[in-house]
Amino acid sequence: MQYTTDDLRKKWFDFWESKNHVIIPSAGVLPDNDPTALFHNSGMHPLVPYLMGEPHPQGNRLADVQKCIRTIDIDEVGDATHLTFFEMLGNWSLGDYFKQEQIEWSFEFLVKVLELPLEKLAVSVFEGDENAPRDEYSADRWQEVGMPKSRIAFLPASENWWAKGDTGPCGPDTEMFYWTGEEPAPESFQESWEDERWVEIWNDVFMQFNKDASGVLTPLPSKNIDTGMGLERTVAVINGLKSVYQTDAFTDILQKIADLSGHPEIAEDPIAESDVHHSSRVIADHVRTSVVLLSDGVTPSNVDQGYILRRIIRRAIRHGRKLGIDQDLCIQIAAPCFDKLSSAYKNIQEKQDFILEELAREETQFRKTLESGEREFKKLSEKLEGKMPGDKAFYLYETYGFPIEMTVELAAEKNMEVDEDGFHKAYKAHQALSRSGAEEKFSGGLADRSDETVKLHTATHLMHAALRKILGDHVQQKGSNITADRLRFDFSHEEKLTPEQLQFVEDYVNEAIASNAEVSLQEMSVEEAKHSGALGFFEHKYGDTVKVYTMGTHSKEICGGPHVEHLGQLGSFKIKKQESCGRGVRRIKAIVG
Ligand code: ALA
Repeated sequence: MQYTTDDLRKKWFDFWESKNHVIIPSAGVLPDNDPTALFHNSGMHPLVPYLMGEPHPQGNRLADVQKCIRTIDIDEVGDATHLTFFEMLGNWSLGDYFKQEQIEWSFEFLVKVLELPLEKLAVSVFEGDENAPRDEYSADRWQEVGMPKSRIAFLPASENWWAKGDTGPCGPDTEMFYWTGEEPAPESFQESWEDERWVEIWNDVFMQFNKDASGVLTPLPSKNIDTGMGLERTVAVINGLKSVYQTDAFTDILQKIADLSGHPEIAEDPIAESDVHHSSRVIADHVRTSVVLLSDGVTPSNVDQGYILRRIIRRAIRHGRKLGIDQDLCIQIAAPCFDKLSSAYKNIQEKQDFILEELAREETQFRKTLESGEREFKKLSEKLEGKMPGDKAFYLYETYGFPIEMTVELAAEKNMEVDEDGFHKAYKAHQALSRSGAEEKFSGGLADRSDETVKLHTATHLMHAALRKILGDHVQQKGSNITADRLRFDFSHEEKLTPEQLQFVEDYVNEAIASNAEVSLQEMSVEEAKHSGALGFFEHKYGDTVKVYTMGTHSKEICGGPHVEHLGQLGSFKIKKQESCGRGVRRIKAIVG
């Protein structure tokens, strides 16, 4: 049987519903309060507060499909496997069932629901170390449900320990693999697990620990299950395809690129290894990801998420030129992306006009200088031998809008290197907006639940309310990032705030703190929450029931928590800095205490 991505999504939801799970909507791709990452990169990511012990308003059995962005391999995109956007199917037990049920249900889903042949399946379990014992229990459960002993491998933490990042919830896992080779699968998985024809399709994490910024593991309040199955990859593998680019997720997108470029071979053999095919995959992935980022409110800029968006749009355009597509690349390729993704993510449908406008604007702006930039690059590369100095790369960036990664890619095509350190020095020297945020990694965040981060999170709510009071209801949260030392809040507003406006915000928050009002929590339906006047801007990611935090008369907002109990605990509030953060977005950094 051939599966589409819609088929697998539906089978996933039906299955977990039959096991009494609530299907929750995907969160957006921007983390609300996680300074350690630019994007949600797994299904558990938006659920961190609940894995840490906050009660989830929808209960303790959840399942979903989550939009994920992984940019770590961004320059690899173009090969036949990498994607920057993918969908992750997941199910969770928040202190409810544990290993026994999860293993039983994993087997049932793979073998009974998807009808995958047992002779092509294998699993790995944790072999044990100083953090957690060898997981004989899980191996026994696998055998009990029908997995042959020879297909169970015990592997070290490098393979069977899952953590979101440097801090946060983590634990040992058991992973499921599918044999994609032509010949029968090897009998012993312990001996063959490194064979690339074994492809991981599902990961069940036994999430029992939290790792703090100093690397210390402490047990979580409850034992949780967190699982993840890559939708596109699993569809590819179970259909006997070699690559995600051969699945229905990409069929129409690649067809469109084939039509526009006059290269039918792009659609005929999506994974062929030619420059034309490589470019077609870059375009397909990058435009698809851009559509998702824009739908979640990211706009092209020179920092953080906006920089990633700008970089992939520009890279797509450059590869479009290689295929002879010299105008309106993004909006034309966006059309099949809308068709494919809109039914699962309704904000993509709703925001179509906005997405097209932003894509067209960025494309027009970039094309204006692209040609002269490429000419300049050619001249430079002919003059320079082997290595491009950083100041020249910076010149291409500043004058022609060439992201450094693009210059590096162009240079590689001519067997040249770029002095990237020199570029960054030149960049800093010019006091340009730092793009280093794109790779910035802080420790801490709400995952560490230190008093400081919880206080700053509470202060963020108060500041948000104050900004709306003084600037108007157009102010919406665009991003929030909290470290142990400061909060950082991005919000929609065009102009720089005046000293009086900043003073108003500080006074408002400090008066709220002085009132020592209680912070109270109610659970209610989304409708009731809206009706009660609670702030909430990310409707599409809420389930039916939401948590509303009320802080005296000062703030009322939908949020996952946690917060202080009384506002007096914040001590005092001070704004340290305001800056621009892309078109129509301002950023404020502030401290408490
Ligand atoms: N959080 C686990 C993963 O992303 C399930 O693989």
